Amino acid sequence: MKLLLTGLLAVMLVWGPQTRAQKDTSAGCRERATCSKHEHDQIRLRLMHGTNCTSFCHCATLATHDDATVTYHWVRQNCSLGTQFDSSKGVCNHVGHFVCEH
Ligand SMILES: *[C@@H]1O[C@H](CO)[C@@H](O)[C@H](O)[C@H]1NC(C)=O
Ligand SMILES: *[C@@H]1O[C@H](CO)[C@@H](O)[C@H](O)[C@H]1NC(C)=O
Repeated sequence: MKLLLTGLLAVMLVWGPQTRAQKDTSAGCRERATCSKHEHDQIRLRLMHGTNCTSFCHCATLATHDDATVTYHWVRQNCSLGTQFDSSKGVCNHVGHFVCEH
């Protein structure tokens, strides 16, 4: 039991700084990279940089574990033709209605 708690603390120490860094909504996303519960519940969609705003990611459930913890990852999605991802609104918006941040 003590070993388990120590392991858990180590995991929290490793993940803590990353979780904080990802709270910036301009951070974008990488396909299949881990995302947090906060991103899943509060942010949901983020621009995928380097796609000319044609792609974005959705923070989706990767797995639910036996101890009821859930892990999440970014899944790539594409905006439909004539639209691009508008980071300020967090949705695909008509091209020309905003400036793509890349
Ligand atoms: C990015 O998208 C805009 C709007 O669709 C387009 O005008 C531009 O040529 C694209 N740029 C690149 C590098 O694909
Ligand atoms: C999105 O577009 C990219 C590049 O064209 C493509 O490789 C990818 O399969 C598309 N993803 C989806 C979910 O349509």
